[in-house]
Amino acid sequence: MSSNSTKKPWGGRFKEQTAPIVERFTSSVEFDNRLYRHDIQGSIAHARMLARVGILKESEMNAILQGLTSILHDIEQNNFEWKQSLEDVHMNIERELANRIGEPGKRLHTARSRNDQVATDVRMYLRDEIDRISALLTDMQRSLYHQAERYPNLIMPGYTHLQPAQPVLWGHHMLAYYEMFKRDRERLADVRKRVNILPLGSAALAGTGFPIDRHFVAEQLGFEAVSRNSMDAVSDRDFIVEFLGAASLIMVHLSRLSEDIILWNSSEFGFVELPDGFCTGSSIMPQKKNPDVCELTRGKSGRVFGHLMAMLTILKGLPMTYNRDLQEDKEALFDAIDTVTISLAVMAAMVEHMRPRPEHIQQSLPRGLLTATDLADYLTRKGLPFREAHEVVGRIVAWCIENKKDLAEMTLTDLKTHHPLIEEDIFPLLTYAGSVASRTSYGGTAQQNLLDMLKTIACELEKS
Ligand code: ARG
Repeated sequence: MSSNSTKKPWGGRFKEQTAPIVERFTSSVEFDNRLYRHDIQGSIAHARMLARVGILKESEMNAILQGLTSILHDIEQNNFEWKQSLEDVHMNIERELANRIGEPGKRLHTARSRNDQVATDVRMYLRDEIDRISALLTDMQRSLYHQAERYPNLIMPGYTHLQPAQPVLWGHHMLAYYEMFKRDRERLADVRKRVNILPLGSAALAGTGFPIDRHFVAEQLGFEAVSRNSMDAVSDRDFIVEFLGAASLIMVHLSRLSEDIILWNSSEFGFVELPDGFCTGSSIMPQKKNPDVCELTRGKSGRVFGHLMAMLTILKGLPMTYNRDLQEDKEALFDAIDTVTISLAVMAAMVEHMRPRPEHIQQSLPRGLLTATDLADYLTRKGLPFREAHEVVGRIVAWCIENKKDLAEMTLTDLKTHHPLIEEDIFPLLTYAGSVASRTSYGGTAQQNLLDMLKTIACELEKS
């Protein structure tokens, strides 16, 4: 990056040079140069449109297209010198174009402003990133589906308040996360609709007197619609807030999954074995195998929430229309994209390779008296009001704790001393498998539900 002061494209009315510290302070090219491809695509469409409506000669347009293509090539070959003195990606490319092709290059900026240009670039860039992140979400969903499909019979304790609650299928637990990531994809698809609207042609803020054809540009660039109000178009960044909201929820879901896995990987739970390749060791304690991938993901969620808050704060006091504050949108957006991308990719790979430890999970089941609700439901079906049944089973549970037994280990005589309605037919219901099998309400953990859902999801995944 070079920073020797260059004549500014806007320098006409200035007598003195920009102070070096101001140049550093106002420049964004260090981070917005990642928009170069979309900036060039946008300029190509703009130049085509200008020629189509007669503002540029065919020959001028061709020179511009050639110049831009050669610049694109050089940037991609890492053969392009970005100049801090030229502020941002837009002016760097435009100035280089004029250097390469002369006068036609200076005509490209007709009927446009950096204000509508930057809004267009960011929307195109974000559109592509949304598509990439959606594909990563599908990878994550696929990993979760595989986990559910591989161990369809595995029963584990389900928790509320982090207290053992009722037995559930491992697969049911995995598919709970599948649902979260499914909604995340839907949310991104919804945000994308509002991202995919063309601001170009709004010019600085008021539109332009040149006879431009915005619909032609929209079509060239794959935009669904053109913005309806030029003032809104150059100053709106709510599409970024919406994306950051969707990104934050993805991080919430990744962070919750991380927390589950961290617990399961602890020696206290011992429910999963993480692949060595996804853990790190301790420099002092040789026995450690730490779930750092999960911890970092949980930690990185904070960065993304921070960017969401930053963006809301940047916008809240802005008078209409464009203000330079808006340049602060980019680092927040870019870092959120990078963070979500790497977190999703690494977590999807880890979930794919994680292995449950059925023996350990099984050993933990009796600790929870997990079938107490089943016993209460049994008494309720026999005619006892549920509240009374709850009370009776509460006393049975206290007995079990005192006598260090699980419910299924009690004798019928013991059970009957607590309530005469209890018969031999209670025993199948007190097993974990029996309990799981009984949860047949739609969306419940019964095995048949899981098998049906796996089929539905296999179809969903095939389509995405
Ligand atoms: N780099 C600026 C941004 O990101 C581009 C628009 C600047 N417009 C202006 N009139 N200074 O927002």
